[in-house]
Order: sequence, then structure tokens, then C-alpha cells
Amino acid sequence: MPFGYRKLSMTASFSAAYRLDGANVTMVVEVIAGTPAVRYWGPRLPDDLVLEELSALAARAEANASPAVEAPLAFTPQAGQGFPGRPGLAAHRGGLDWASYALLVDVEQGASRLAFTSRDEAHGIELVHELRLLGDVLAATTKLINRGTAALQVDHLAPPVIPLPGFVGEVIGFEGRWSGEFQLRRHQLSMGSWLRENRRGRTSHDAFPGLFAIERDANETRGLAYGFHLGWSGNHRLVVETLADGRRSVAMEALYLPGEIMLAPGEGLETPVIYSTVSDAGLGGVSRQFHAYLRARPEHQRLRAKPRPVHYNSWEAVYFDHDTAKLMALAERAAAVGVERFVLDDGWFGSRRSDRAGLGDWQVSPDVYPEGLGPLIEKVRSLGMEFGLWVEPEMANPDSDLYCAHPEWVLATPPAPKIPFRHQLALDFGRAEVRERMYLDVAALLEEYPIAYLKWDMNRDLSQPGGADGRAGATAHVKGLYEVLDRLRAAFPAVEIESCASGGGRADFGVLARTDRVWTSDSNDALDRLSIQRGFSHFFPAELMGAHVGPTRCHITGRQLSMPLRVATALFGHMGIEADLGELDAQETADLAAGVALHKAHRALIHSGALHRIDAAEGVNAFAIVAEDGSEALVSYTMVEEQRGYFAEPLRLAGLDPAADYELKVVWPPRLKAEWPLRDGGRFRGAALMQAGFQPPRLHPGTALIFHLKR
Ligand code: GLA
Repeated sequence: MPFGYRKLSMTASFSAAYRLDGANVTMVVEVIAGTPAVRYWGPRLPDDLVLEELSALAARAEANASPAVEAPLAFTPQAGQGFPGRPGLAAHRGGLDWASYALLVDVEQGASRLAFTSRDEAHGIELVHELRLLGDVLAATTKLINRGTAALQVDHLAPPVIPLPGFVGEVIGFEGRWSGEFQLRRHQLSMGSWLRENRRGRTSHDAFPGLFAIERDANETRGLAYGFHLGWSGNHRLVVETLADGRRSVAMEALYLPGEIMLAPGEGLETPVIYSTVSDAGLGGVSRQFHAYLRARPEHQRLRAKPRPVHYNSWEAVYFDHDTAKLMALAERAAAVGVERFVLDDGWFGSRRSDRAGLGDWQVSPDVYPEGLGPLIEKVRSLGMEFGLWVEPEMANPDSDLYCAHPEWVLATPPAPKIPFRHQLALDFGRAEVRERMYLDVAALLEEYPIAYLKWDMNRDLSQPGGADGRAGATAHVKGLYEVLDRLRAAFPAVEIESCASGGGRADFGVLARTDRVWTSDSNDALDRLSIQRGFSHFFPAELMGAHVGPTRCHITGRQLSMPLRVATALFGHMGIEADLGELDAQETADLAAGVALHKAHRALIHSGALHRIDAAEGVNAFAIVAEDGSEALVSYTMVEEQRGYFAEPLRLAGLDPAADYELKVVWPPRLKAEWPLRDGGRFRGAALMQAGFQPPRLHPGTALIFHLKR
């Protein structure tokens, strides 16, 4: 009988506690009332800690007006245990078998893996909770198996629910819109639920499937902070629940539409992975642990094989107005400023001369490219660049050959009219024949041409996601998409794929298991991008973040920002250019070439270093990327808004070796107009740079400084 936990009735004889350790984190799982539950998830505990102490410390007496036996906040909180909050599983057979009461029957423990099997014979339900610790990141799933003799309808099923300590009372959600993704919003938790649902059928711009939960006063460098993310590219539900008894938890799950999941006897359903990590080094610690996890994945090693090539993307230069001569001239200009990969965006296929027609017809347009893409690709390659191509295989314009031949292939909810969204309808990737056709169409392009990179776009919500059989098909679509991407990856392992959905509408660890970067946002406005990229950086490292230098006047915000600022913002991601290079004046072109060269000089650091976002003054954006061994750092400091006083606050750096001396050198902008005693650099101790900080120069809003520190 485990120690300290009150009124516990153990039905099986399992050792009471299991632990997983990362370098910085510890997870302790305890079997409570026969069900596995998280006892502790937090900063690393001493190796020799007697785990029973944790339950003794948490023990409490019965409160007034409470059940005689407190139902555990288990991995799957269960209706059958009388859990007073949201259950982790809601399923039934025609209204029966709804009160699941699965108890632990088996535990498997590996080096960094735990699996718990629980069974409810009476209701024909089996649950398998699997936890893996990958570095400092927990990756956990729940699998439900229908052990009954009739179909089981599943309304929801959460990956393991993770408790939060009561003193973690604030949630940071990530919200936004097209061209304004990854904006942070803080919420104080109170009794009840913080709920975020996404029914857009893709990861979405407005309800990113991730959150941070922090203790009072935690900031970028200090305090306890948790990060959570659901690796899933479809509908989802995020719930942070606070019960009247003080218990608090995070559940993240795929959101199933009515009747969407029906399990035949013997059939199983596995949830997407919930990822979580925790740090007492504030929000920055959490982000660095997520980054380290993503970088350690075997699939990430593809990106390590060579430096991330600088991109040129044709979209904002030509839109749908493709002309080989103009594109070849752009390719020449791109190569001249240092570009290494030329990506031909939308408009090259079928009748796609605007966004009103042609989607679905993945054959090179003979009107625009009478000799196919060959001549353009040859030109690009002769200039020493790789070639990339835009596709959007999940979609069809009603005005397309594909739709005329197969109007039944789109998702729809008859008799409601099919409501177009950017003049297009979504194909049903739940259908095998649709997946086969789109696989073959894309594969044919990859076989015919030397294509190094696909920009895989997805420009509408699945807002009427009815499948052929009349059932909801949003989940099947996402699984179908994953299948097609996996198949392409297996057949064309050298081809890199970007995940784009009207900008950053499909950025998550699920799609990133089969793609190599994300198009972060359609906004190339360098100031808006600062906050978008900062939000994105909470979960993803720089090398996965597409970041482009846009035209002189931003096409989306109409704002005119200097080339040095545009460079300074794009330089800290997987850098690219998306502008008509013929429209830039000589100074802008020279600054752009210098910016690309600066990126190349430092990209090994940017794409591998540890990110330290800095809590700077309001109206200032600052961060440092520090080499893993502390030997160098690149610091970005941008004046976003005019400051109240004559001088901005001192900037304290982070992440440096306090004992080392660093050579500080201003490397950007090319022409710094401000007077600044430090403009010629200097030599400073890490501790001084971090504890005293330095006085930045007076800068106009819209000015960015980059400096390099070398130990
Ligand atoms: C989406 C993408 C853009 C561009 C267009 C093309 O909006 O986010 O980058 O590719 O589609 O139609």
C-alpha cells in the first residue's frame, strides 16, 4: 500500500513509483488507486531521493463535502472512478459502457521509456499509456483498444493528462491570424477551465496547439516554467483545468467531430503525442529544451548534412505572372546576391493564372512553359543554385480538370453548398484514390525534374469536412496527409519539404516529423516578423523557421522598412529573399548581398546555438544565440518603438560564460549613424555583460543592431 496517499485501494501489486530522468528534468509516475498518474514533473530531483517522500508531502486530509475516496488525477482521469473534472476518455456503446474503470495490469520500463497497460474487462476497454523521455522532453501517448464485442464510439481521448503544481497559475497561449501568427497572450488561471479549441482542420493560425504554464513572476531567465505541445496538424482541444480541490492539469487532444471515431472490436486508436518539458530557468529554458529535442531527432540530421541554403522565392516578385525570361533574370540577380536555392512559387501549372483556377492540375502549363520547367531549372542550376517548387496537393479549384473529372473527391457537407475559401475546395485525403493520385502527380514531377525542395502549401480550412460516406472526415484527412508525405519522403529521401499553410497555419511537431522547415508567416514586414518569430521560437529552433527579406514596401502591411532592418530580421532564421530584385536600388542590393554574406558567416551558429530571448524594455526586441560551448554569440537588438527617456535601458545579455572575456564587435548595420562609444567594440567579461549589461546607442525606431561576441 503506497505510503501517504490517503484512502488508497490498490488492486494490483505494482511497485508504487517509477521515474524517468533527463539532464534537467524528472518525471515520477505513481500508481494511485490502481491507475498510473504523474506524481511529479519538474526540475531534476536528486538521484537518491526516496520517491515515497513525494506522495507523503502531497498527502492531504479529506475536505468537507468531498467523496470518501478522492478519484486520482490519473493519466486518463476516469468517469468510473468518479473523477470530478474532465475525463481523459469519453466513449460509449450506444449509451452504455461510458463509465470506464480501467485498472493497471502491466508495466514495462525501459531506459527512457515507460508503458502502462490498464484494463476494464466489464466495459471492454484497454488503455496503454506510453511515456518516453527524449532528452528533457516528455513525449507521451494514450492508446485505446476496443476489447468489447460491439463498436465503441469515441468522443474524445487525451494523451496522458499532466498535473501542474498549484503555484503554476498563469498560462501563455499562442494566438494570431493570417500574417500575424504566434502572438503570446497571458491568462491568469482560476477555478474552472481554460479552453482552446481548433476546428479549422489544420493546425491553424489562431489556436496554436501549445502553451506555456508558469509560476508567478517567472520570466525569460528565471522561475519555473512548463511547455506543452500537441504534435498534430488537425483539429485539437487544449484544456487547463483547475478543480475546486486545487488540483490543476493540462490535457491536449485531437478534437473529434461527432461520430468521427468508431472503433470496431479489437480496433485501436492512438492519440497524437503530447510533448512537455519543464525548467526552472524560465521560459527560455523551456524553449531551449524543445529546440534540443527537435535537433536531436534522427530526421533533423538531414538538415545538418549541409548549411541551410539561402532561398529566393518568386511569390512576391511575380505572383501568378510567370514569364521564363523574367524568372531567369530574377535567378541571375538572386545568384548575384548569394542565393543558393531558387523556389518557384504558385502559378506554374495547369490553368493557374490566378487563384481562381487550376489547383489540382499538377502538370506544367504549356502556355507559360512551352518547353516545360527544364530550361528554367537548367538556368537556376547553371547559376549554382538548387531548384524548389511550390505545390498544394490537398486542394482543387472548382475550375480545374481534376474537379471536373472528380467532383466527388472534395470534402463537403451536402445539402449545404460547398463554400469556397480562396476560391478552392479541399480534397478528401481520407480517400485512398485521392491520396494515390496526388502522390503520383507529385512523384511524377520529382522524377521528371531535379527538384531539391517542395513548398507544400495548404490554403484553406477544412470547414465542411464531410467525407464520401457522409461522416466527418477531418481526422482522416490529416492521417491521409501524413501518409502521403511519409510515402514521398521514403521514395525521395533527398527532397526537402516545407510545411506552409497560408503562412504559418501548419507548424507543429506532427508535420515536422515529415517536413524540414515551416513557412512562418506570409508577412515579410520586418517589425511584425520580430514578434511572430519570437512567438515561433518558443517551440521551434531557427533552422526550421523560414524568414525572408521582403520588398521595400511590404505588400501586406504597406509599411516601408529599411533593408538593414529587413536583413537583420530574416538573418536569424532559415534565410531567404522574396522580392522583385529588379526593383531594389543599388544601395539596397548591396546591403542585401552584405546581409546574405553575414548570414552565411554566422549560420552555423544561428542554426545550432542556444537561443536566449532577453526581457528587454518595452518597445525593444532582443535575443542572443550562444554557441553550445559558450565560445561565441550573436546578439540581435532592435528598437521597435521610440523610448520615453533619452536613452534606452541597459541591455543585459544572457547565456554567456560568466568567467570568460569576450571580444564584442558590431557586425550590422552596414552604416551605423548613431554615436556610440561601443561602436568600435571592446573586450568585456561575460559576467559584466550579463549582470551590468551595456548602454545601447540612441536609435530610431526600426533600427536593428547585431553584434558578435567571441571568447
Ligand atoms: C500561400 C503561401 C504563400 C504563397 C501563396 C501562393 O498564401 O503562404 O507564401 O505560396 O500561398 O498562392
